[in-house]
Amino acid sequence: MAIDYQDRIPNNVDLSDNRRLQRALEGWQPAYLDWWGDRGPTEYQGYDVYLRTAVSVEPGGWANYGYVKMPDYRWGIFLTDPEADRRIGFGDHMGEPAWQDVPGEYRGVLRRLIVTQGDTEPASVEQQRHLGATCPSLYDLRNLFQVNVEEGRHLWAMVYLLQAYFGRDGREEADMLLERSSGDADKPRILGAFNEKTPDWLSFYMFTFFTDRDGKFQLASLAESGFDPLSRTCRFMLTEEAHHMFVGETGIGRVVQRTCELMREYDTEDVRPHGGVPLSLLQKYLNFHFSVSLDLFGSELSTNAANYYTMGIKGRFQEGKRKDDHKLAHATYPILECRDGRFETSDAPALTTVNEALRDDYVADCQRGVNRWNKVIADAGVDFTLTLPHRAFHRAIGSFADIAVTPDGKLIAAEDWNANRDTWPPTAEDEAFVASLMHQVVEPGKYAAWIAPPARGINNQPIDFEYVRM
Ligand SMILES: [Fe+2]
Ligand SMILES: [Fe+2]
Repeated sequence: MAIDYQDRIPNNVDLSDNRRLQRALEGWQPAYLDWWGDRGPTEYQGYDVYLRTAVSVEPGGWANYGYVKMPDYRWGIFLTDPEADRRIGFGDHMGEPAWQDVPGEYRGVLRRLIVTQGDTEPASVEQQRHLGATCPSLYDLRNLFQVNVEEGRHLWAMVYLLQAYFGRDGREEADMLLERSSGDADKPRILGAFNEKTPDWLSFYMFTFFTDRDGKFQLASLAESGFDPLSRTCRFMLTEEAHHMFVGETGIGRVVQRTCELMREYDTEDVRPHGGVPLSLLQKYLNFHFSVSLDLFGSELSTNAANYYTMGIKGRFQEGKRKDDHKLAHATYPILECRDGRFETSDAPALTTVNEALRDDYVADCQRGVNRWNKVIADAGVDFTLTLPHRAFHRAIGSFADIAVTPDGKLIAAEDWNANRDTWPPTAEDEAFVASLMHQVVEPGKYAAWIAPPARGINNQPIDFEYVRM
């Protein structure tokens, strides 16, 4: 299905045939643009940015590259093409035709899930809005803006669902998505990690690696949904999300590479005097971002998650590829628990562990990226291994929230944890040091000293391409 760029709101959902919806979205659009102008990357609205824009929803060949001023970006509504005779793949409704409309009894639940997902999208734009002032290169600045405009489009995707399928309540929720604000004391964003600051580029790469990856797994499980419009919109969002995680993985990889170069050049682990980020400091950032992102998956045992599953609303990661009955009424799943001061694995009813299973898939995916960073370290001949902290470390949600655990998984007393706190997540001093490295570099082909240039440019352009015209 072609994308219609003639409309004020580009779309592949035949918006011009639905006047009521078109009017609702056109009514929301000015508020969105105001939000982008106020709480997006404000100082850069007039610059030409080498951005990709979706031109089709086919896997592989969907992107068009060119210079765009961000406020002119063609945000719109793009769903992957419908699958003929799609059936619900799990839960009590398994085998029934996928719903093209919202089933009345699941209306509240679906709306809540869509609002929660939708709320994260503008939140991350808000969190990242000051990063342009300290970008390490034009290449990175462009990647930041690409992520930002696509998160904006993800907001459009969720607002479309709310306005098209949830009537007046949906329109009110769409308005509220622009009213809550990341870190705001009175109207914060819904989820904790989306109220944290993204103060520097190290945090940005960690965020896009760990927190956007949570997004990947949430979207993948919603892509399984029996509510077909939600499934189709999430499928297309996933193709955009892949780039965000690429930015994070290669960003950290380049920092690792640069640090290793400095370590060899000066024969020291403490590369701070030479303008680099020590690997031990990277590990602290990793500890923090991994643990707050684990919290986004919710409690280990969750009746809500079980209900979403049996209702056919939110599936498991790659539900369709799994070889079981997709109902899970009698299945069990191993979960880690802390009992009598020890960690133990025990079997729990699989339905209640759907969150935990998704978290396991997420952890495995994170580990693959960490392995690639470790390969960069090993290839440089440096003896150091970055590791994911234990899943009970520094948690605020779920059964590990009330215990004190070291990154390598030792249970300790709360006062011992606090006494050692400075060695695990970054301290204010660490953050101040990282901040001291952050200076804007905007000459084409120049890169800040704390990060290696990328292996290749965007869309086969050279790395000294003018990715943003200042
Ligand atoms: Fe997103
Ligand atoms: Fe993202």
